[in-house]
Amino acid sequence: MINYNFNRSGIGFLRFSRNINRFNGINIISLCQTLIKEIGFGNGESFIQMAECAPDTLFIGAEVHKPGVGHALMLAHKKELNNIRVIEHDAVEFIDNMLTENSIDRVQVYFPDPWHKKRHHKRRLIQPVFCDKLQRILKPRGVLHVATDWVPYAEHCIEVVNQIDSFDDQSNEDYAKPDYRPETKFERRGLGLGHEVRDLLFISTKQA
Ligand SMILES: C[S@@+](CC[C@H](N)C(=O)[O-])C[C@H]1O[C@@H](n2cnc3c(N)ncnc32)[C@H](O)[C@@H]1O
Repeated sequence: MINYNFNRSGIGFLRFSRNINRFNGINIISLCQTLIKEIGFGNGESFIQMAECAPDTLFIGAEVHKPGVGHALMLAHKKELNNIRVIEHDAVEFIDNMLTENSIDRVQVYFPDPWHKKRHHKRRLIQPVFCDKLQRILKPRGVLHVATDWVPYAEHCIEVVNQIDSFDDQSNEDYAKPDYRPETKFERRGLGLGHEVRDLLFISTKQA
């Protein structure tokens, strides 16, 4: 069962429970034709900024860090946004259990934990099995957008996604940031440490 609450400003909050049916986001917000899914939005600063700039797009964000969820909801409330949905839960389980296939226009993974040590690489979010899951929920021509300030992680992502047949790497020259993505908190931290930021854009080439 989905416990789905709206407060007065229309901010949706989904509580996860195991007895749920998959939902098609388009059924929930019929006015929004474009759906963006962000994984690990941190304190929500850039997530909310993007939602503010694109009022006709629905932004679904998943974050496991409770204070980050609270901060994002506080910002959304302040700005009176009604085009965000926030899930305080593991994004992978959410994708598996609650998103229907061909429902999402873009999946955003901005500055995922890089897990620097080799023995921890298996904890990295971007893995072949995960990319298969993303293929299922992305619409044809949908985009997987990963940004990272850790060049070895960018290389890892390219290697992993290249193993999946129906993704085409269409990153900008020099892996430049697309205009629609605001700077994030972790990006600022990485830049302060002198790290190079790479934005990776993979387009789903699956058939409709
Ligand atoms: C390094 S932080 C980046 C935060 C934000 N995107 C930014 O750039 O400022 C990574 C975030 O991903 C979240 N995270 C990691 N794995 C997750 C998962 N499976 N589901 C949801 N959130 C996740 C963490 O809680 C953390 O807030």
